[in-house]
Amino acid sequence: RLKVVTVGGGSSYTPELIDGFIRRHQELPVSEYWLVDIDAGKEKLEIVGALAQRMVKKAGIKMTVHLTTHLDEALAGADFVTTQIRVGQLAARIQDEKIPLRYGVLGQETTGPGGFMKAQRTIPVLLALCRKMEEHCPDAWLINFTNPAGIVTEALSRYSPIKSLGICSGANSMLRDIAHAYGVERDEVYARIMGLNHLIFADRIAVNGHDMTDDFIEKLAQGVGSNQLKNIPDIGLPAEFIRALKLYPLSYLKYFYLNRETVEHECQTLAQGMTRGEQSLMIEKSLFELYRDPGLCEKPAALSARGGALYSDTACSIISSIYNNKCEIHVVNVPNQGTTPDLSDTAVIETNAMIDASGAHPLAYGRLPASIKGLIQSVKAFEELTVEAAMTGDKSTALLALASHPLVPSVAVAEQILHDYLAANWNYLPQY
Ligand code: G6P
Ligand code: MN
Repeated sequence: RLKVVTVGGGSSYTPELIDGFIRRHQELPVSEYWLVDIDAGKEKLEIVGALAQRMVKKAGIKMTVHLTTHLDEALAGADFVTTQIRVGQLAARIQDEKIPLRYGVLGQETTGPGGFMKAQRTIPVLLALCRKMEEHCPDAWLINFTNPAGIVTEALSRYSPIKSLGICSGANSMLRDIAHAYGVERDEVYARIMGLNHLIFADRIAVNGHDMTDDFIEKLAQGVGSNQLKNIPDIGLPAEFIRALKLYPLSYLKYFYLNRETVEHECQTLAQGMTRGEQSLMIEKSLFELYRDPGLCEKPAALSARGGALYSDTACSIISSIYNNKCEIHVVNVPNQGTTPDLSDTAVIETNAMIDASGAHPLAYGRLPASIKGLIQSVKAFEELTVEAAMTGDKSTALLALASHPLVPSVAVAEQILHDYLAANWNYLPQY
């Protein structure tokens, strides 16, 4: 018996996961799959859950799909718990995006002040989930996809005994882009990756064992093969900068390297009526229209309009690597533990790790290149302060966190954003 539970099962991403489990059923024979959601998410849970059941039936595999709003019942005896919750749903994300933009600051789901606010709402809820896991499935693995994944993983690794790993679709999308540029499969590509969640860089790229780093960097400089997630503005970095950097940055790095341009882009998008969160809300509505169709028995292509498309590739292969003690290398969020001497041992980083039945063992990296060290360290300081604020509800720590983010240009602006954020979120902040 192999029991997997997905918390936030009513998410429009669920068909993604089901598809991943169906594809891997031979090696990862999930027998019980539980989708759990809160009462407010019940309608979505029922629609997407029914689709999940149809998908499994069509695939003809032995896996029962259970839908419930009772967390305790779902967790009992679980082997793996995945989370994809959004405290306050997309409405809260839209506020996170709009408030900083009032002050000319990036308004994004995870990068900048948005990540701070999302962490304040999310960390207490996930720690409460971990306490329930201690009660009902103390040996289960928690695979966290909930954003801000790196910050959340840092909080879980510090404050809960539950074994957890943070995951993101970003690194895999970079590998796919490299594979695409060379006309090969993704598993023929290796990239050494280092950084923080949504702030990663590849510095060694190999295709079938041949070092293609310089070649790929030149491709990037020429605008070929560039990583383009659906949720990130399509603005290219200057060629000379890419050649100078000699690293392949995840497309989220544009928010730092082209901050003025991306904020301007967001202001324009807002003026035209919609933030990315509002677009996501629309995409989600149309996805649920599709999901309702009793004739639909597979993951619809329309799901690829979301930024996290194909995230099950990451989630399911990591779960399989743990379950089958595969010793594969995957990119995960994991405590540094000496991987680089330029960050503290407890700092959660996103990097390549060997995954076996005992968990993730990050591969030694060494010193961070001077070109990215300062950025990574300063965002990490912001993340640590963000975790501390989420745990204590202390407003001065919250102010320090926001004020220390490299994309917040002034302490006065940090104060204003914090003020507006707390006013808009009071309902979700029991710790404040
Ligand atoms: C990327 C990130 C995810 C993020 C998603 C947003 O894939 O890795 O962490 O949640 O994009 O996509 P959305 O469609 O919600 O804007
Ligand atoms: Mn992500």
